[in-house]
Amino acid sequence: MIVVANDHGGLVLKHSIFEVLEELKLPYRDIGTGSAESTDYPLWGFRAARLVASGECDRGIIMCGTGVGISMSANKVRGIRCVVCSDCYTAKLSRAHNNANMLALGGRVVGPDLAKMIVQIWLETPFEGGERHSRRVQMIMDIEKGIDI
Ligand code: RB5
Repeated sequence: MIVVANDHGGLVLKHSIFEVLEELKLPYRDIGTGSAESTDYPLWGFRAARLVASGECDRGIIMCGTGVGISMSANKVRGIRCVVCSDCYTAKLSRAHNNANMLALGGRVVGPDLAKMIVQIWLETPFEGGERHSRRVQMIMDIEKGIDI
């Protein structure tokens, strides 16, 4: 299950993301705002991140105007590795090397076609694993736990 969330800045883009998820036949849960009225992005990043961190959802795709504020908010939740992404290379590597479990997009940064490509690549790329990448991801998680690396 993929959780999708957005503030007003991500509202328009969200509908393009639904198209990809439907094409890929991936079930999703939309918990974002459906209104164009200004709202606080931390709320949406936090709510989506909580669902991923608890295991209720496998991954999350979140959107605000830039992708920045909502990703910063999601990354404050323990267990979350959220990437802000506006290119396909970063989308691929954030999965292959960093095992990102959330993707943030800027509704005012990327157009719908690029966003759809990014989402598809991000969803279809597995974590490469292996000693080197696993060690580094573990180091990120250790920092989060307050462990001195
Ligand atoms: C809202 O205007 C905007 O600040 C928000 O969508 C996002 O871009 C924040 O990082």
